[in-house]
Amino acid sequence: MDYKKFIEEQIAHIKQTVGEAKAINALSGGVDSSLVTVLGHRALDNQLRTVFVDNALMREGEPERVVKVFAEMGIDVELVDAREEFLSALAGLTDPEEKRQAITDTFYSNVFARLVKESGATFLLHGTILTDIEETVAGIKRQHNILAQLGIDTEAAYGYSIIEPLKTLRKDDVREVAKTLGLPAELAQRIPFPGPALATRIVGEVTAEKLETVRTATAIVEEELADSGAFQYFAVLLTDRATGIRNNKREFGQIIVIRCIESTDARTATVTPLPWEKLNRISDRITQIPGVNRCLYDLTPKPPATIEYI
Ligand code: XMP
Repeated sequence: MDYKKFIEEQIAHIKQTVGEAKAINALSGGVDSSLVTVLGHRALDNQLRTVFVDNALMREGEPERVVKVFAEMGIDVELVDAREEFLSALAGLTDPEEKRQAITDTFYSNVFARLVKESGATFLLHGTILTDIEETVAGIKRQHNILAQLGIDTEAAYGYSIIEPLKTLRKDDVREVAKTLGLPAELAQRIPFPGPALATRIVGEVTAEKLETVRTATAIVEEELADSGAFQYFAVLLTDRATGIRNNKREFGQIIVIRCIESTDARTATVTPLPWEKLNRISDRITQIPGVNRCLYDLTPKPPATIEYI
């Protein structure tokens, strides 16, 4: 595939399609939406408004980091603080599918729908890739019709159009195009991170306190395993508690699970045989997090387990 030609064609196509109108896109910091953001700004410059929604479920320093990386490429990203909205939508929910649904609904029906309407944009740029379309058709993923998810019935009635410049690409091509376009490696080569973010790594109810715990644990795991070469690695917070000893006192503490896996497409996965010293070091650091007194390593491949915990 000729990546340079692909880039030129997509920029020309976006420019021609949008004309003098306004466009908007939501950036998550993942490679797909990052690539769409750069392509979109090359084509449309200030006619494109890019928003990054802080849903309270992000990794440590993530919103600021994404805004900064794009600022360095000359792209303005608007940080939208929707933390309270997401946390109240998640309050009291323990069922995995209900938690996922609450996040999708809050994003599409409330936060992004509001931003789209107030922006006066008539074009939405979206980072749908070929795999998303295939998985939607195969019934693996929930349907990918963004306009319907935003509660916008028909394009004709509202004049909204959706542009999906990456819909013919698979992940490896997305990474190559991103590299060709000059996206920094920290964006082009990032490990996968799910849309529902840290909510997929908290079993049971998601609260601000639990998010703080799993966020700190995630930062430790990502730092320790950055050079592991593994497909994906992260920390999970369980609902169960266990007895431990801290400062000579009994403590009924929290349990963090470490997951580190090898995979090519996330459909199946095996567990990385991490060196014992590495696991010990991670366990030492994790159990220094206030309230956490146990650290487990998950030995389960996919299947029968999934990669995430919800
Ligand atoms: P599972 O847990 O299904 O994960 O074995 C497979 C891969 O997909 C990621 N994942 C998601 N990505 N939205 C996403 O964009 C989601 O809702 C979602 N759920 C899981 C997961 O991190 C893994 O790489």
